[in-house]
Amino acid sequence: MANYASEINKRRTFAIISHPDAGKTTLTEKFLLYGGAINLAGSVKGKATARHAVSDWMEIEKERGISVTSSVLQFNYDNYCINILDTPGHQDFSEDTYRTLMAADSAVMVIDASKGVEAQTRKLFKVCVMRKIPIFTFINKLDRDANDTFELLDEIEKELGIATCPINWPIGCGKNFKGVYDRETQTVVTYSDTEKGTKEGETSIIPIGDEDAILAHIGEENKNHLMDEIELLDGASAEFDLEAVQSGDLTPVFFGSALTNFGVEIFLQHFLKMTTTPLPRKSDKGLIDPVEEEFSAFVFKIQANMNKAHRDRIAFMRICSGKFDANMEVKHVQGNKVMRLSQPQQIMASERKILDEAYAGDIIGVFDPGIFSIGDTISMPKAGFKYEGIPTFAPEHFARVRQIDTMKRKQFVKGITQIAQEGAIQIFQEFNTGLEEIIVGVVGVLQFDVLKYRLENEYNVEIRLERLPYEHIRWIENKEEINVDKITGTSDMKKVKDMKGNPLLLFVNPWSVGMTLDRNPGLELSEFGKNT
Ligand code: G4P
Repeated sequence: MANYASEINKRRTFAIISHPDAGKTTLTEKFLLYGGAINLAGSVKGKATARHAVSDWMEIEKERGISVTSSVLQFNYDNYCINILDTPGHQDFSEDTYRTLMAADSAVMVIDASKGVEAQTRKLFKVCVMRKIPIFTFINKLDRDANDTFELLDEIEKELGIATCPINWPIGCGKNFKGVYDRETQTVVTYSDTEKGTKEGETSIIPIGDEDAILAHIGEENKNHLMDEIELLDGASAEFDLEAVQSGDLTPVFFGSALTNFGVEIFLQHFLKMTTTPLPRKSDKGLIDPVEEEFSAFVFKIQANMNKAHRDRIAFMRICSGKFDANMEVKHVQGNKVMRLSQPQQIMASERKILDEAYAGDIIGVFDPGIFSIGDTISMPKAGFKYEGIPTFAPEHFARVRQIDTMKRKQFVKGITQIAQEGAIQIFQEFNTGLEEIIVGVVGVLQFDVLKYRLENEYNVEIRLERLPYEHIRWIENKEEINVDKITGTSDMKKVKDMKGNPLLLFVNPWSVGMTLDRNPGLELSEFGKNT
């Protein structure tokens, strides 16, 4: 076994997903605090500032009002080397958010206890399920009024279709929040509203059998209620089963309050034991083992023009096997070229650090002179395999795009095609006509602004965007067997093709998708494109 096996086995690489405002940033900050990577104690009052420092991207992007990058945070905790992939929220939501999940080995899902499962969580969750990666649930904000705990679990099970196994259980909520009950050790970890910036505050751990201490800390009513709930829970919830967790069929659930540091370290400790070391990854030669195989990686994201002065692009790679050494020669498989990766960097939020070595599980960014595409494989020159591509994710917003100055047709097509190649947008044409009409599809609406801005600034082309009402796109799985001209849909259906000529269908309403399937027996539709 390679002598760097211990380095790889220390790695835990996960993404944090949530609906905006559920507390993802706060939880991430607290993780970093435990890992000693940042010192929050002094910066709590200016949380807004602290947050920018940790999770936002570079100044240049802020000036442009564009923040399309997910950042990667690495820190050590308890002999683990942890890589957190932050997924951008709100309007920054884009296809990159989904792609980030392709580079993670597990996901932490943060849910606001008073809101339950929300739209963005649902979307990101689908991608985790597709990859069958382990999902861990942290139900946050118990220091505020929360929904009924059983109802929250029920909602996760029903809406997301995953079994839940609470590892701990909240006692009260809001002003009456008393702590959590740990099911395995049958102890109560008491809550005290600590100084917000410091580590976990004054808590005691009391065995549930210690009647006097329990009553003193949580009171009789809470105790009785807790005992009733535990009885119900023991009868109703799924048994803990690590295999089911690791295959993504069961989510361990934890409760806490990231803001007041309660339950965060408990979560981290359990999570690190249950989550996986870097996972093997599928290639055309079978699964590639992270420890047995020499260096290999795949590109999951390309960030264009981060430095305006240099017009450079950064290709983000997830190392899937072996050890990366900055001086070694590697092969860009798709380009069939042996090369040295230029200026390998570790991207730490707003900081970039040039690095000499990295291991399977780590994410590196390298300077890209315009040769890499999303999904490309980098390996040792003689390795001879290619990783499975990254799917194309369904855009949900569409617009017809025209250049204002008709003389600039050439620049327009060049610009929009290049931007589409980077994966920021997807472009389509009318099914039966040529290039005159370009339809752009994006996962997050901010990408329309990015497109407009970049075409104007980088290609000197002004455009007009006319939003279209479509929200649902489907790839035709069995396009070889189906005569696309003959597909009859609802009146709100539109046939388009992508740049490779693959036919796709656009719909305004979700029910039209079902109706079209009913009307065209044998038609198979998919929400993800195979990207071949
Ligand atoms: P996000 O990254 O998922 O979008 O959420 P973020 O951590 O930014 O948290 C959103 C808001 O929720 C923040 O308040 C944050 O302080 C608050 N919050 C996070 N965790 C908890 C918790 O456990 N309990 C309570 N009560 N609040 C929590 P804000 O007022 O929007 O931001 P700020 O002004 O505090 O920066």
